[in-house]
Amino acid sequence: MPRPEDSGPPELFYDANEANKYTSNTRIIEIQQQMSERALELLALPCDSPALILDLGCGSGLSGEVLEENGHFWVGCDISQSMLDIALEREMEGDVLLSDLGQGVGMFRPGMFDGAISVSALQWLCNSNSSKENPFKRLFAFFTTLYSCLKRNAKVVLQFYPDSPQQAELIVRQATRAGFNGGLMVDFPNSTKAKKVYLVLSCGDMTFQMPRALGENDGTQCVYTANERVRLGRVDKKAMSRKQWVLKKKDRMRKLGKQVANDSKYTGRKRSKKF
Ligand SMILES: C[S@@+](CC[C@H](N)C(=O)[O-])C[C@H]1O[C@@H](n2cnc3c(N)ncnc32)[C@H](O)[C@@H]1O
Repeated sequence: MPRPEDSGPPELFYDANEANKYTSNTRIIEIQQQMSERALELLALPCDSPALILDLGCGSGLSGEVLEENGHFWVGCDISQSMLDIALEREMEGDVLLSDLGQGVGMFRPGMFDGAISVSALQWLCNSNSSKENPFKRLFAFFTTLYSCLKRNAKVVLQFYPDSPQQAELIVRQATRAGFNGGLMVDFPNSTKAKKVYLVLSCGDMTFQMPRALGENDGTQCVYTANERVRLGRVDKKAMSRKQWVLKKKDRMRKLGKQVANDSKYTGRKRSKKF
């Protein structure tokens, strides 16, 4: 199935039409809310006191609603004006900001948030839609600025859909370089439908222990940190051939309306050293 991230920039994908579709689909609402509840549980906030939580890629506020229902305050960031318009129409209590997570979240005061969550947004940062967008740099800017706007010992839980073990590994590496400790946790690792990947991070707490994943009935703990190879499923060793990679990229550029050379038998071939 094609991934939305391969279709172009998120602010174009989540246009008014997609934003409406997204927020009126009961199945999507149910899944987003379930994952938000799980993210909140993994944040393990101290009981009884309302917290201020940052929602990264907050969209139309489905995750924000779960935070509100649990008595917390929240601030959300999203790159799609259409998604934020729906959050505003739904009269959510959280404040929302139009911003690109790849530019970082440096607009917030240091140590301002008690925790942060993100539901189904992080994988978008791994795609590059122009020569200026470098996923390594964007992820690093995101994690370093996130680290500084959190209180010491605060936690971050980011549910996302990695498109490969390598992509998940890159995300863990950049989070660790930014100073976080923690790693990936996979709920229901053996189920195609229920399997969900969470990056669980701690900001400076050296005693932090990764939580236990759900559905580990075979006794193996599905937790992967920066020092281990990420095993999120079948690792396609040969991955994509060079030609497939080039064709996929050209296809994406065409969808973005860019001029791309026609495909030919030479597409994806290595140039000889003479060039
Ligand atoms: C699948 S939606 C999830 C929305 C939200 N978490 C919810 O529960 O409704 C993914 C969201 O990530 C946002 N997003 C993707 N890339 C982003 C970026 N670079 N900066 C900010 N938001 C981004 C999209 O605009 C979209 O609203």
